[in-house]
Amino acid sequence: MSGSLLVDNIGELVTNVAGTGDGGPLGLRRDAAVLVEAGRVAWVGAARYAPAADRRVDAEQAAVLPGFVDSHAHLVFAGDRAAEFAARMAGRPYTGGGIRTTVGATRAAGDDALRATVRRLVGEALRQGTTTIEIKSGYGLTVADEARCLRIAAEATDETTFLGAHVVPAEYADRPDDYVGLVCGPMLAAAAPYARWVDVFCERGAFDADHTRAILTVGQAAGLGVRLHANQLGPGPGVRLGVELGAASVDHCTHLDDADVDALASGQTVATLLPGAEFSTRSPYPDARRLLDAGVTVALATDCNPGSSYTSSMPFCVALAVREMRMTPAEAVWAATAGGARALRRDDIGVLRPGARADLTILDAPSHLHLAYRPGVPLIRQVLRNGVPQCRS
Ligand code: NIG
Ligand code: FE
Repeated sequence: MSGSLLVDNIGELVTNVAGTGDGGPLGLRRDAAVLVEAGRVAWVGAARYAPAADRRVDAEQAAVLPGFVDSHAHLVFAGDRAAEFAARMAGRPYTGGGIRTTVGATRAAGDDALRATVRRLVGEALRQGTTTIEIKSGYGLTVADEARCLRIAAEATDETTFLGAHVVPAEYADRPDDYVGLVCGPMLAAAAPYARWVDVFCERGAFDADHTRAILTVGQAAGLGVRLHANQLGPGPGVRLGVELGAASVDHCTHLDDADVDALASGQTVATLLPGAEFSTRSPYPDARRLLDAGVTVALATDCNPGSSYTSSMPFCVALAVREMRMTPAEAVWAATAGGARALRRDDIGVLRPGARADLTILDAPSHLHLAYRPGVPLIRQVLRNGVPQCRS
């Protein structure tokens, strides 16, 4: 579609341009309009001053916000672990051990089945307002399977992450050093052409600090950006290591001590919180207030995966963050949009200002507050991605 498009009659516009509009971090504007040209935001301002355009979308006084940026998802997998979820709800703890179940199913699946799952989940996320999604490998864990999972992920997003170090697969159970050698050598070489990022599950029972450092360092040397899963199931060295290595983001951050919080507050690394995982594993939520009060940049993401968090819904995560993690609705909306963009080191998304990508979500609600105020309600009326209307519910 060519020509200009005016999204007009916006009751409340979340720009995430701090200090503009109402002067707060969301840069809220009332009675606004957004002009889109060639997939980019060309103009933002008061509706009464809106320039002429070839086409017009009437927001009917609804709230409009940047599309959600889901910076942490595991979408390339096969199989189903609903029974594991049911067992957890009946009292069984989550250990991460189920990852190997999904690895078996994923290895056995054909490319088309994996591709269909990715497409289904990306579509599901888009209908819930997500316009950028990061997708990790991590359920292949052989050279060929990690490369093919990333190749399939790269068909759906530019934000692809090599997670060959998700767990040590069963065939390497007695020789984890050999597996780390494989990850650092042939697996990284096969995966890197399809990946922007490298990630490690740094946790007791997965990879320790030495292994994590080795993998992230060679990944960095291969040109990949660093992010990692850290301090999810218990305290550990992951968060501080991530900050030390200049990770874009450390994800989970459920079990932090003061030194972890200080390290995050003094560095550039975003803390990405994944409340869907605590919900689905019935675990204590991370202390978002402690991080925010210390000045840490916080992002929210779904962690969509078949084991610990099988949700693709950013609105659900926003509602959990507000209700269970004591984030204000404004903090949660910022974290799910601009925060996700920071976690991916992107300045062209998660924000609505001239030059940004025209990724917009129009709500069936007058204010961003409704995302947490009306949990579980399908509030996404329309989504524009690169300025193109995607879906209307
Ligand atoms: O982010 N923590 C490790 N990986 C996923 C869980 C994957 C699974 O259980 O299959 C996570 O929660
Ligand atoms: Fe994860």
